[in-house]
Amino acid sequence: MPRLKLGVLISGRGSNLQALIDAAADPAYPAEIATVISNRANAPGLARAATRGIQAHVIADPDRAVFAVAADRVLRGAGVELIALAGFMRILDASFVVAWTDRMINIHPSLLPAFPGLHPQRQALAAGVKFSGCTVHFVRDAVDTGPIIAQAVVPVLDGDDEDTLAARILAAEHRLYPLAVRLFAEGRLTIAGNRVAVAAGIAPDITALNPSDRT
Ligand code: GRF
Repeated sequence: MPRLKLGVLISGRGSNLQALIDAAADPAYPAEIATVISNRANAPGLARAATRGIQAHVIADPDRAVFAVAADRVLRGAGVELIALAGFMRILDASFVVAWTDRMINIHPSLLPAFPGLHPQRQALAAGVKFSGCTVHFVRDAVDTGPIIAQAVVPVLDGDDEDTLAARILAAEHRLYPLAVRLFAEGRLTIAGNRVAVAAGIAPDITALNPSDRT
């Protein structure tokens, strides 16, 4: 069966890109990375794509509409069926978001709708929450909104600072993003308003990873 063609948009480190690359290295995984786009020429994530021979493009135009047209051309040219934003730090043009509605997902390091935007780990520490985590969601026009596909919870520990909490969440991200892409690729996701249902055949709680989950 042909694998779902994924386009990954990055701006920096690319560790979530790496998690997707690693997942796709298994021929049984139902998605493959068709192309990577970075809006920054010096994004370390670009080397991760190059190492695996994945085509990568830098589109650094500061104009939002110009970026959208160029990115759209690359993605369609590569036959991309799903866009995964992975540490992509630019606001996307509204026309691009509409064109890819229900075919573009994002990962954010908090339990949305708590702590959207910048520095979510800092926000979590400031709020004094005992748990935080990460969220994979379909992208809508407002930043860090959209139907939630999956979430993973991690504890916030006494003595945590932004870095230790971010590292704990990041480890969960690396498990959750490949899972969410797999669910999409297998056609298991149905969007109804703001909710995403996961089709039968998968345990209902698979999209909610919790701290006692050791797999
Ligand atoms: C991750 O924490 C992701 O959730 C957020 O930006 C960070 C990107 O990290 N959107 P990386 O580039 O994937 O390593």
